[in-house]
Amino acid sequence: MNLEKLKGDFLELYHEDSEYQFFAPGRINLIGEHIDYSGGYVFPCAITFGTYAVVKVREDRVIRLSSNNFKELGIFEFDLDNLVYDKEDDWTNYAKGVLHFMLQDGHELNHGFDVLFEGDIPNGAGLSSSASLEVLTAVIANEVNDLNIEKLDLVKYALRSENDFVGVQCGIMDQFAVAMGKKDTAMLLDTNTLEFEYVPLDLKENVIVIMNTNKRRGLSDSAYNERREQCDNALEILNSVKKEDFLCDHTLETLDQNKELFEDELVFKRARHAISENLRTIKAAEVLKEGNLDEFGKLMDQSHASLRDDYDVTGKELDTIVASAQKYGALGARVTGAGFGGCALAIVAKKDVEDFKQKVGKEYEEIIGYAPDFYIATAGQGAGKL
Ligand code: GLA
Repeated sequence: MNLEKLKGDFLELYHEDSEYQFFAPGRINLIGEHIDYSGGYVFPCAITFGTYAVVKVREDRVIRLSSNNFKELGIFEFDLDNLVYDKEDDWTNYAKGVLHFMLQDGHELNHGFDVLFEGDIPNGAGLSSSASLEVLTAVIANEVNDLNIEKLDLVKYALRSENDFVGVQCGIMDQFAVAMGKKDTAMLLDTNTLEFEYVPLDLKENVIVIMNTNKRRGLSDSAYNERREQCDNALEILNSVKKEDFLCDHTLETLDQNKELFEDELVFKRARHAISENLRTIKAAEVLKEGNLDEFGKLMDQSHASLRDDYDVTGKELDTIVASAQKYGALGARVTGAGFGGCALAIVAKKDVEDFKQKVGKEYEEIIGYAPDFYIATAGQGAGKL
């Protein structure tokens, strides 16, 4: 990303010089998928792709937002005291929601600001471009108003924007990873207590290849919310036997012993994914710390199978690319993020990456009809001022 160019674009757009620069990354999730709303462990890391913002503080209470990624949409202008969801406002709703909830909680946003954003996270690829924008907005508002809000609280404003402004009932993983990421490090986060641990992402002679299926995550929000309801339903059923706060607190034994209580087999399968994925995630962090990458890869493979067979969030494109990756030498491969299209990850020996990309790319294109993209993931810093 060329920040000097972005500053130049800002000047051209707003006819004034910018003052500050900010960055918020995207994220990948190594394992622990679709359990951050069931109280499970997740294991994400921030990546070096992300969203940049150049900013100028204003004296009045006007917010102006524009993005080089949506140039054709121009500049959106709002009054800080009148931030409501409007479909017409497109991508800016993610940012507006953050400011809305900060104000609602009594934070004094004394300054409006002009912002020009530009991101290099592929859009709709499941690498959290929206969480990146939300957290970035929270960080900007916090800094330019000297609010000194704790990072974890900024994460919560970002999440509320997504849940209660935009209306996607996602868990906390993406916003957390985007805000708290650390270079060369993954985060093992307990989404129940929000306690977390930084784990060095030491892959020895291997790298993480992000495989973008280039299938956009269409219709995913409703399917996502439906999975979440099914998990709530499963929790209710299991709680009639033994009371727990979260689905992931239940054991596979309790689940198996009470199979007959589930009238809908799908609900049973959703629960089986959630509980087993939580165990895999805890195990995966352990084996990574021990440097046992073979085992780590196997857990990734099992995670994908569970998301395919029990959780049903993968689909032909992701299953095809993951199967090819496994066939052409990946230590492990799985979907990352919500699924229904988007990206998968593969752990691949550095020396084989070119060959791997070529073979997987060719096979995928033959089966699916269009080519995937590949990027090497590097675990990077969380959001902040540059
Ligand atoms: C999306 C959501 C996250 C998480 C993942 C699936 O990225 O935003 O909260 O649920 O899907 O693990």
